[in-house]
This record gives sequence, C-alpha cells and structure tokens, in this order.
Amino acid sequence: MQTCYDLDSLRQAVAAWKQHGERIAFVPTMGNLHAGHLSLLESALALADRTVASIFVNPIQFGAGEDYERYPSTLEADSRRLQQAGLDLLFAPDLAQLYPGGMDEDTRVTVPRLSTILCGRFRPGHFSGVATVVTKLFINVQPDVALFGEKDYQQLLVIRQLVRDLCLPVEVIGMPIVREADGLAMSSRNAYLSPAERERAAELYRSLQDAAASLAAGAALPDIEAAGMARLQEAGFRPEYFSIRRNDDLAEPGPEDCDLRILVAAWLGSARLIDNIRAER
Ligand code: PAJ
Repeated sequence: MQTCYDLDSLRQAVAAWKQHGERIAFVPTMGNLHAGHLSLLESALALADRTVASIFVNPIQFGAGEDYERYPSTLEADSRRLQQAGLDLLFAPDLAQLYPGGMDEDTRVTVPRLSTILCGRFRPGHFSGVATVVTKLFINVQPDVALFGEKDYQQLLVIRQLVRDLCLPVEVIGMPIVREADGLAMSSRNAYLSPAERERAAELYRSLQDAAASLAAGAALPDIEAAGMARLQEAGFRPEYFSIRRNDDLAEPGPEDCDLRILVAAWLGSARLIDNIRAER
C-alpha cells in the first residue's frame, strides 16, 4: 500500500493507473476506522482495479464548540488495517494541502435545501463543509465509483446531489449501516460514551425499530415522531429530532408517499449520535 501525504504524489499515482485504463474506487473517511468503514472498503475492493481511501479530519465541517479538537486520531493503526485489507493507496493530507488559501474566505460548495434540514438545522455549515471537502477529494482522486455509508444518510444524499449538479463523472454507492451486537450503529463518536451510557445507547436503534413497526401498523406520523422524542428523553438522551421523511429526498412525506426513512439525532452525555432506518407504510 502506498501512502500519499500531498496532492502531487496522489495525482501521479492516479495518472499512472488511468493511463492503464484502471478503474478506481474511493472511500473517504476521517479515520479512527471501525468495521463500518472497513465494510465500505471491502465492497470498494470488489468494484474496481484500484482502491483509494482518504483519512482527513475536515475542520470546516465541524461547528464552533464541536469535537474537532478531540476527534480521535489513530493514523498508525488505521494504516495497518488498510494495508491488511488490501488497499492500494491511502491519502492522508494535512490542512495546507486541502486548504491552500486558508479556511476563512475560501471557495465552498453548498447543496441547497438538503443542507438546511434535519442535521443541517442543528449544525449550520456542516454539509457545506462536507460537500466542499468531498468535491476536492473527487477532483484529485478521480474515482469511477465512491462509497458512502447510510449511517450518514443525509450526507449520502448531499453527495449524490453535488455529483449530479456539478456533473462529476463519479458513481456514488450507498452501503448498509454496520451495527454493534446490541444494534448501536458503529461510530467513532461511540468512544465518547461512558460504560453506563454505552449500555443505554442501543435504545436509539430500538426506538427506530419500534417507530417503523408503528408506521407499518398505520399510526399517524406526528404521533410516532412525538413518541420517539419522548421515549428518548425518558431514557436520558437529549434528542434534536426524530423525524419521518421521504426516503429519496428527505422531504416531508405527503399522504401518497410510502417509501420513507426515519431519522434521529440525539445527544447522550457528550456524544452526538445519529441513526436511521428505512420504513414503509
Ligand atoms: P466518517 O465519519 O469517518 O465516515 C466515513 C464513511 O464511513 C462515511 O461514508 C460513513 O457514512 C461511513 N460509516 C461510518 N459509520 C458507518 C457504519 N456504522 N456503517 C456503515 N458505514 C459507516 O463521513 C465522514 O467521515 C466525513 O463526513 C467525510 C465523508 C469523510 C467527509 O469529511
């Protein structure tokens, strides 16, 4: 496995592969890799001749007072796992590579509407930060296919729209959520949970499963959402939203919409947890 820390060496490697007509799959990450990340990589390996992953904790997608400063960094261990998995290239740039003009007045990519709802309401600027860094990565890695987890479902839709709107020649593939044995979605942020909070955390997924069952049984959407919020509050979470949306664009469902997604964001202690589940009615 080759590791590139700068854009020049990344571009050289990519150019050599392209010259041979090789297909490139790409998995962008912020590191601190777990089985969720590795599932994306395994699928990537099967889809292309060359597989690239990036590790970059992107400051502009964190709000003031969020966990940028304490986001877990485990580059050496990550690098070993990626090598074992059979990755071709790890791109691990520093700030100056991706933000050569600084981060105050630089060019940003913003996907309208989708970026302002759900997590976007509580994390203003977050999805513009994600869209901007993913665009930079796509332009330089030049992947044929890029894989993203449904764990961050709203992010996946933001990326799909930016690829469509900017006419980028990349196929975006969404991958299922990898969970712990008790159902908690794997996340680097689970490390912020105390042992007692970790035990309680699986309530998040259970609340989604029960909401999906209520939906299938014909309950009214606002009632299911209110019950989800109340249940999480009682369990000691500080929920931001518990929301039922259309699966394909996260708009508010009309009476005719059947293909839905239930999404939740809630704080437990100092960890902000998100999860979602597809549901029908
Ligand atoms: P990060 O949180 O490191 O996640 C990298 C990728 O792994 C994302 O596509 C995410 O959805 C996926 N992922 C995380 N946990 C998962 C799980 N339990 N099951 C399946 N997939 C999972 O998402 C980001 O980084 C950043 O926003 C990034 C796209 C790299 C831009 O900075």
